[in-house]
Amino acid sequence: MNKKFDKSYRIISNKEICTDYFELKVKAPAAAGYCYPGQFFMISIPGVFLRRPVSIYDVKKDTVSFLYKITGKGTKILSEIKSETIQLLGPLGNGYDLPPNTASSSLKSEKKSPGFSPVIIAGGTGIASVHFLAAKLKTRGTLYYGARSKKDLLCLNKFRKIGWKIIVSTEDGSKGHKGYITNILPENLKSGDTLFACGPMPMLKKILQIAKEKNIRGFASLEEIMACGVGNCQGCAVKIKGQNKMTCKDGSIFKIEDIDF
Ligand SMILES: Cc1cc2nc3c(=O)[nH]c(=O)nc-3n(C[C@H](O)[C@H](O)[C@H](O)COP(=O)(O)OP(=O)(O)OC[C@H]3O[C@@H](n4cnc5c(N)ncnc54)[C@H](O)[C@@H]3O)c2cc1C
Ligand code: FES
Repeated sequence: MNKKFDKSYRIISNKEICTDYFELKVKAPAAAGYCYPGQFFMISIPGVFLRRPVSIYDVKKDTVSFLYKITGKGTKILSEIKSETIQLLGPLGNGYDLPPNTASSSLKSEKKSPGFSPVIIAGGTGIASVHFLAAKLKTRGTLYYGARSKKDLLCLNKFRKIGWKIIVSTEDGSKGHKGYITNILPENLKSGDTLFACGPMPMLKKILQIAKEKNIRGFASLEEIMACGVGNCQGCAVKIKGQNKMTCKDGSIFKIEDIDF
């Protein structure tokens, strides 16, 4: 059941996990039980007019975590926040449309779906959105993860610990394959795979092309710039099957083949 809350929650921690990347943990008892992989919250930041969208990175009991990168004024202030509480609106968005019986018991049911072969593809901070998904899927698969450099590859241990096979690439070649992660997908993906992707638009565009060529189904999380986060301002419009849709309300997850890039 979709339910969203606009509430002030207690900050448990807000720590730098590596240069420019922070993990924010919030005690959010009202919202935690309603969080679904791929959803996000709009975070109020003091001194910043519009709330900022950040994906759910993890949920443990009544604690919701976020992984964010300092990219501008809002995320910089967030990283230095001194208050004990923070106002969050969410969970928002549709979340990943998981096949029946593939998610762990806290989400759906207990049985695995035979033949379900999940492949997660993440670029940059897109890793935050797919981490919660990886933790909730009962079937473990392969994570393809691309970043600029070794220092931008986050939470590899977390994926390893929960049993995901990891293949990485870096643009500067400091770890894994050198170049874009999409360069090595064509030889590795197979037609029965289900793709879950989150990352920059050029990466998603390339994934669409590969998925079409190989006849693979998949889902992508679009991280458009957002203002209201709830479908009121039309600031996050995208073309889906020729129609205008709001990323915040109708997405942020869409079937890859439906997105008109
Ligand atoms: C649904 C959704 C989920 C997101 N999840 C995460 C997450 O889990 N972790 C994370 O680090 N970031 C995430 N983002 C991106 C995050 O919202 C932006 O980085 C943040 O709003 C920037 O705010 P700012 O005030 O620091 O930067 P601003 O001063 O507003 O902008 C600084 C720079 O960042 C760019 N920017 C702003 N918003 C976005 C965006 N949505 N995508 C790409 N570039 C942007 C601007 O164009 C500008 O160049 C998500 C975005 C969306 C829409
Ligand atoms: S951000 Fe306002 S409609 Fe999506």
